[in-house]
Amino acid sequence: MIRSTILGLGSYVPERIVKNEEIPFLDDQHVRQAVQQTETSDEWIRARSGIEERRYVPNDGKWGSSDLGTIAAERAIADAGITAKDIDCIIFATLSPDIHFPGTAVFLQSKLGIDGETGCACYDIRQQCSGFLYGLQMADAFVRTGMYKRVLIVGAEVHSHSLDYSTRGRDVMVLFGDGAGAVVVGPVETDDPRAGVLYTSVQADGSGAMDLYLKVFEIAKAPFVQYDWKNRDENSIMYPQMNGKRVFLHAVRNMVVATKKALKETGLTWADIDWFVPHQANLRINEAVVQYAEIPPEKALNTIMFYGNTTAATVPLTIDHWRQAGKVKKGDLVLSAVFGAGYTWGAGIFRV
Ligand code: ACO
Repeated sequence: MIRSTILGLGSYVPERIVKNEEIPFLDDQHVRQAVQQTETSDEWIRARSGIEERRYVPNDGKWGSSDLGTIAAERAIADAGITAKDIDCIIFATLSPDIHFPGTAVFLQSKLGIDGETGCACYDIRQQCSGFLYGLQMADAFVRTGMYKRVLIVGAEVHSHSLDYSTRGRDVMVLFGDGAGAVVVGPVETDDPRAGVLYTSVQADGSGAMDLYLKVFEIAKAPFVQYDWKNRDENSIMYPQMNGKRVFLHAVRNMVVATKKALKETGLTWADIDWFVPHQANLRINEAVVQYAEIPPEKALNTIMFYGNTTAATVPLTIDHWRQAGKVKKGDLVLSAVFGAGYTWGAGIFRV
């Protein structure tokens, strides 16, 4: 029987570390100023979210999500022991695309040097913090049906350029960072039901769409919404808007339900699973999920302290971080649960 399996894993974060202490002093280009720009503090950020620092790309106009994603992808491809030319499908998950269209996957394909007339299929998916598991479900189906043999899933985000560095935007701004993660998924011939990707389930609830969104423009308001980007009475359209409390509650509830459902439908218990890898939006969300889903706390892996919320990148980035630290080993079984804007959410069980 053909099953899908993760053949390789890689990640990348920019070098610039922005500690909580620096956040209040960043201007709208995220350049540090002598005078405080935003009323916030290390104490508040740490207590409410668990975040201590995050990474930002240089503000030199050269870094889009495809650039971070390319480095993560190259590492995943090398880890899989293949070359970029072996990739026959790319699934790129991001909420911070390089440009409005075409999608970011084609830019990544070119940067990997596999464009041209024999270029592989390229998909862009827009499921925000749930993007990686949505992508894994697609890749699993593609591989099991024989449609594709080497599917590259990339989750990459450049958030630092679209955050509101002011007291008005502080609730969202302090949470997000830049980063990328990638995996290569391919087939394995096996009768072992516990091999490779065991389970994926994803859902969405559009009634929560406007609890976390970024407009930039509204296509319905032709030809475009006029605003002066420097005018603070007009420019909120450029920045993400969030009902934090509603997102928090729905994230906990849906990740708990998705985690329990994953165990029930596979017949697995926590004795079978090595690691719980939740989406990294807020350490308090993850601690609540661990508590309500009765997950052994020592099996929960977090990286939000180091990277903040990197949206579609958090799951592969967290697994790779702890693999490099020596905790996660090849073949370990991971249960991942995610929740993101949309609302979108889901869970997956897979070997890494
Ligand atoms: N620094 C200091 N004070 C702040 C900040 C800040 N960065 N942000 C908000 N505050 C203030 C508020 O204005 C409020 O002040 P008030 O009481 O005078 O009105 C006070 O702090 C408390 O604010 P709350 O909103 O009650 O704080 P809460 O404990 O709910 O934490 C937070 C806010 C961290 C945003 C939380 O709601 C959260 O994490 N929600 C989920 C967010 C999330 O997961 N987003 C990503 C989803 S995934 C995706 O797809 C992108």
